[in-house]
Amino acid sequence: MTLTQYPTAVLPRIGRNQKYAPQDLADALIYLRKLYNPDVRGSKIKHRKRCYPVYDSNVSPSEQPCEAEPVSEDDLEQLRADAFERSYAVRWLTAFCSCAEALTDGDGVSPEMVESLIQDASALLAICAGTASAGIISRNFTFNQGKIQVQLTDIPLDNHDYSSVGAQTWGGACVLSEMIAQSPQEFGLWGSSLQRPLRILELGAGTGLVSLVVAKLLRALAHEDPVGPCAIIATDYYPSVLGNLEHNIMNNFPPSEPQTTVSISAHFLDWSQFSVSSLQLDAPPFDEPFDLILGADIVYEAEHALWIKRCVEKLLKKPACAASEVPPAFHLVIPLRATHAVESGTIERVFACADSEAAKVSSGEGGHVWDLRITRKDSIVCDGEDNVRFPSDGHEVEYAHYTIGWIKV
Ligand SMILES: C[S@@+](CC[C@H](N)C(=O)[O-])C[C@H]1O[C@@H](n2cnc3c(N)ncnc32)[C@H](O)[C@@H]1O
Repeated sequence: MTLTQYPTAVLPRIGRNQKYAPQDLADALIYLRKLYNPDVRGSKIKHRKRCYPVYDSNVSPSEQPCEAEPVSEDDLEQLRADAFERSYAVRWLTAFCSCAEALTDGDGVSPEMVESLIQDASALLAICAGTASAGIISRNFTFNQGKIQVQLTDIPLDNHDYSSVGAQTWGGACVLSEMIAQSPQEFGLWGSSLQRPLRILELGAGTGLVSLVVAKLLRALAHEDPVGPCAIIATDYYPSVLGNLEHNIMNNFPPSEPQTTVSISAHFLDWSQFSVSSLQLDAPPFDEPFDLILGADIVYEAEHALWIKRCVEKLLKKPACAASEVPPAFHLVIPLRATHAVESGTIERVFACADSEAAKVSSGEGGHVWDLRITRKDSIVCDGEDNVRFPSDGHEVEYAHYTIGWIKV
């Protein structure tokens, strides 16, 4: 069964007198899940390689390999939006749930196996018959073997509405979330750094996955070992995106839950205006600098890198001392799309790499002016799992992770 085929063409007939191979039914459920409840592309990190500082000084970070963009998703979007096919899938799943118990009559089919197939089918039924039929998709994201769970709603991607890029969760958010969940210490979210009030900002948060993962992680830590106040400020620009972001925050942290020292909230922040207007800087929550700034997939227009640099210059805290264990940093993850190579290239022009001279200076040998520099660049390669929104034909997907911090020059 491939994703470009119609449910009416590929789903096996369901009926009380039919004989089924359990594997065929399991394959049919996998096909329906990929069609109506797709994963986010590139969310499974395969390996990570440091590109900067490079050991071979003749190789510049911009010469690292890039992955090609996978094929267009248009046909699959059209198939997913087909009401007739969706209602056929709903009827098929309903019939499956009512007949599945008869499967236990077959050889080698355990009741547990049947139970698990029925559970999968019921979950899909809820998705196909419920909100997903309006184009709204709810997804569960899990990290650290299920210890961190976030449920997100994506709203329909309307290509005529520019704001809609933030209505979906993108692969960059999954990659950054996975890195934070796996190595919180790299982001200053573990150990001694937690003993102070911690302020975290996300730029272009979209559906809010990264901020929500940070909030869940810190709340879990606070539960084990009380920490000082931590404020997570998830920001975006477009009203429809901010509305969905607020909904996702409420859904994951219902106000009825006991309050803790870890707070998360959604706020308006426009990169293009922020640096030129002093209004927002005077008002909470932007009137104090942040220890950590996060951004996933937020550089896709030529001017974005410069706007974002100006925001980070105003909002990232200066290091208290050059040798602090995890200095304030801006972590930026972007996919390396062949179609956006020019826009991605702007990052390394706008934020120069920390050269050896600046590094000497930051260790106390001189220099008077703080400048934002790329202190590290990693390449992250992910499984390009095939799915409806981003069919990748099994290609790997590459992301760049920039760590940007203050250097005295
Ligand atoms: C490609 S989406 C990425 C969303 C999210 N970080 C993720 O990875 O799922 C880019 C995000 O940047 C936001 N954005 C675009 N222009 C912006 C601006 N001028 N100021 C603030 N946010 C902006 C969009 O609304 C959208 O949420």
